[in-house]
Amino acid sequence: MLNKLKEKFSYQKKLKIIYKCRQFKAFLYPFNVSKIATIHKTDKFGYHFYTPHYQTHFKKYKFKRNNILEIGVGGYKDPFIGGNSLRMWKSYFPFSKIYSIDIYDKSFLQESRIKIFKGSQVDFEFLDYVTKKTGDFDIIIDDGSHINEHVIETFEYLFPKLKKGGIYVVEDTQTSYWEENYGGDSTNFDNKKTIYGFFKSLIDAMNNEEFIIENYQKTYYDKHIISMHFYHNMIFIYKGDNNERSNFIVNNSVPNGKI
Ligand SMILES: C[S@@+](CC[C@H](N)C(=O)[O-])C[C@H]1O[C@@H](n2cnc3c(N)ncnc32)[C@H](O)[C@@H]1O
Repeated sequence: MLNKLKEKFSYQKKLKIIYKCRQFKAFLYPFNVSKIATIHKTDKFGYHFYTPHYQTHFKKYKFKRNNILEIGVGGYKDPFIGGNSLRMWKSYFPFSKIYSIDIYDKSFLQESRIKIFKGSQVDFEFLDYVTKKTGDFDIIIDDGSHINEHVIETFEYLFPKLKKGGIYVVEDTQTSYWEENYGGDSTNFDNKKTIYGFFKSLIDAMNNEEFIIENYQKTYYDKHIISMHFYHNMIFIYKGDNNERSNFIVNNSVPNGKI
């Protein structure tokens, strides 16, 4: 019993030392997200190829004091494994706070500037609790269950909690096409219950000033999505004031009734 306890304790201590060493190593490559990802052993580079896109979109946030939320710590049921991407963000953003949520207890993986909450991305009472503690976010990354319904519901809840000027990222969007386990659809790409069906429909929201629809009422997305960037298996959604006027249409109707 005592030996088992000792073994467990030293295993946990060893892990903490390994995580710390990676942090020191990553310090040598402050601007290279892919290199930092490799050092922290996250699958965001190598297995996936997300980090070059992160580098492009996140560089202007590097030295800011950002509030960052990543859904999904990693390591699933194992309480001591995971957090690789959280430590990657900690290395890349030296002045930011990194928050995360996971359905499993991942509290062991917390450290300075990394805070983890236990709960589901579709438990809105839980998300209320989290966002009251953290405040709004500059960056949100959904790398959680990847279930289509979850991704869409989480976005609907969390996009309003993203600050203006912020970026919302959805990873592993390939599940949009996988029905089994994820609720995706490979037969109807415009199915709005799938990740791509839903996010593609928001492209129209960006152009709402051009709609010719009597008494059109703008949605929250119409007002606040200013750009979207689609890459292989990931989407970046930028938030701001989408108030650029049409060059022709006024109040969603055609002046003098003629185009
Ligand atoms: C792909 S892993 C995250 C990997 C991590 N972000 C990284 O890049 O190193 C997905 C994580 O999401 C968690 N997860 C699954 N369903 C969830 C849910 N409904 N809410 C929150 N987290 C969930 C899993 O427990 C798992 O740890």
